[in-house]
Amino acid sequence: MTAPDAGARALLAVAERLAREAGAVAADGRRGGLLDVRTKTTATDMVTEYDRACERIVVDGIRSARPDDAIVGEEGARHAGTSPYTWCIDPIDGTTNFLYDLPMWAVSIGVADDDGPLAGVVHVPARGETFTAVRGGGAELNGDPIRCNTGAVLERALVATGFSYDAPSRVRQALRVSRMIDRIRDVRRFGAASIDLCWVACGRLDAYFEENLHPWDVAAADLIVREAGGRTGDFAGGPLRPAQVLAAPPAIFDGLAALIRDADSGHN
Ligand code: IPD
Ligand code: CA
Ligand code: CA
Repeated sequence: MTAPDAGARALLAVAERLAREAGAVAADGRRGGLLDVRTKTTATDMVTEYDRACERIVVDGIRSARPDDAIVGEEGARHAGTSPYTWCIDPIDGTTNFLYDLPMWAVSIGVADDDGPLAGVVHVPARGETFTAVRGGGAELNGDPIRCNTGAVLERALVATGFSYDAPSRVRQALRVSRMIDRIRDVRRFGAASIDLCWVACGRLDAYFEENLHPWDVAAADLIVREAGGRTGDFAGGPLRPAQVLAAPPAIFDGLAALIRDADSGHN
């Protein structure tokens, strides 16, 4: 792996500045109460005025600092670019937590080039924590290097997961969890995919899996996990795709993937 170039670090600096700016606006706004809460894909998939405001802040900031780059944002931002760089934004990951004033929400910003994820930031305002990575440069939490739990053992793994917004998928996913929970230490459901992934990266969780995510959920945190020594992929061991996301230390990745597949097929 080659060392990160100054260009990647400069992109990360822009991402970090904008994530902090947007996060501060959302955190301040949340203290004053929410005004405009609507639903999106299902009756439980919510969006607030701060999801939209955060995306605006980040998009405006990218367009002024990096006018040639492409941008994709969860709340609708789409800008074609002429450079090799694409930014992918989840302005508030964990909107349900944000709505209920739970601390587990983040501003997530990833930048990719033709070779994949290049730089990423997951900023968690309520905890004062900022996870960052650049390709080939390791991962950090508030500037200190982080590593996933390299000594993890499957039978004693603390595994986070998430559930989709549509009810039939949630039922199937809960059934899957019920079929594997006796084979690991325990399960957690925190409600923000990017934070789940970063917590694997820093060893607060051993592993995490979820399906039916979107590119913005993983754009930053996939890189953060891999730069922290973790492995990411789908449930069959192929490359990570938002439809199936598994993150774990290399030592337990294949075992956990097999457990998930067995639970899906009703064996355990
Ligand atoms: C959601 C969160 C949640 C996950 C959902 C995501 P949002 O993102 O990451 O943890 O279970 O699948 O859609 O809607 O809060 O940005
Ligand atoms: Ca999200
Ligand atoms: Ca979101």
